[in-house]
Amino acid sequence: MIDALARKLLLAASTSAWLRERATRTAFVRRSVSAFMPGERLDDAIDAALGEQARGAGTIFTKLGENVATAEEAEQVATHYLEALDRIAAAGLPAQISVKPTQLGLDLDPASCFSRLERLVEHAGRRGNFVWIDMESSPYVDPTLALFRRLRERSDRVGLALQAYLRRTAEDLESLMPLGPAVRMVKGAYLEPASVAFPRKADVDEQFFRLSCRMLGDRNAPAGTLLHIATHDGRLVQRLGAFITERGVDDGAYEYAMLYGIQRPLQQRLLSSRRPLRVLIAYGDYWFPWYMRRLAERPANVGFVVKNLFAS
Ligand code: FDA
Repeated sequence: MIDALARKLLLAASTSAWLRERATRTAFVRRSVSAFMPGERLDDAIDAALGEQARGAGTIFTKLGENVATAEEAEQVATHYLEALDRIAAAGLPAQISVKPTQLGLDLDPASCFSRLERLVEHAGRRGNFVWIDMESSPYVDPTLALFRRLRERSDRVGLALQAYLRRTAEDLESLMPLGPAVRMVKGAYLEPASVAFPRKADVDEQFFRLSCRMLGDRNAPAGTLLHIATHDGRLVQRLGAFITERGVDDGAYEYAMLYGIQRPLQQRLLSSRRPLRVLIAYGDYWFPWYMRRLAERPANVGFVVKNLFAS
């Protein structure tokens, strides 16, 4: 009950420009965010990815930012990711990229957003790499699915996050399956009304499990079908691991995906049991909304921020 209220408050805080302005200049908040973020620069992400590579994990880079206000900003983001793909190739890293449509200008002009994404996917193809598209709050689901469908017609170097908390996701997944989609299954990180998203955690967990099994268990799935099991939930990881073993699911059909710095022991257990794992590394200076969403996922993390307040 208290956790549910804290989650709502933290998610509401994530959208406050006033708080963002102040919190990002505050030393103890900056120190707290470093638990989830190796640094603000691409170089910091590359250093962290080298560490992940050494322990056998792949990575995914994401430069934090969303809802850009001008086409120039969206262009800068696209240019940044083109450079990131080059730097990843030069470093020989098993690192992919993950982008938010609103960071590439979806709010401003869907056609320009599409062409920026298309450039990224084409460049990823040239570099033997792959582009993930994040899923943002529910009003963006239809336009994001539309972007993905058009891109997937042209290339198999693109995948999409789907949120298990949305009531609509089972139907969305079914309609995507004939395309041979790469899907990152996540629970969902935004504040959504009960008419749109299951309010009970048990229902979200069950839909996550069911939809993941739908993908993993499809022996006739077209080429390109891939599931990212993107959760830190040990119970789901274990249940899906059992399903994978029982059904003899091919190693190439799935990867686990977790966020940098979260549930390290669980990450290590997966690596030790030779399960494929990717760690998503976030960087950049626009970290406030993202960080608030991480706190909302585990309100106990607020205690960590408070500890840093007293340490300062
Ligand atoms: P859940 O929240 O039930 O947590 C399970 C356990 O994991 C907790 O009990 C706790 O121990 C631990 N844990 C979880 N979060 C933690 C945290 N922040 N700090 C410390 N411990 C934590 N969402 C979205 O809407 N769109 C997207 O595109 C993405 N993309 C994405 C990529 C990847 C690789 C991951 C791992 C996650 C996302 N998400 C996302 C976020 C996702 O929707 C969800 O909010 C978080 O993963 C938290 O949910 P869990 O599945 O981990 O389970």
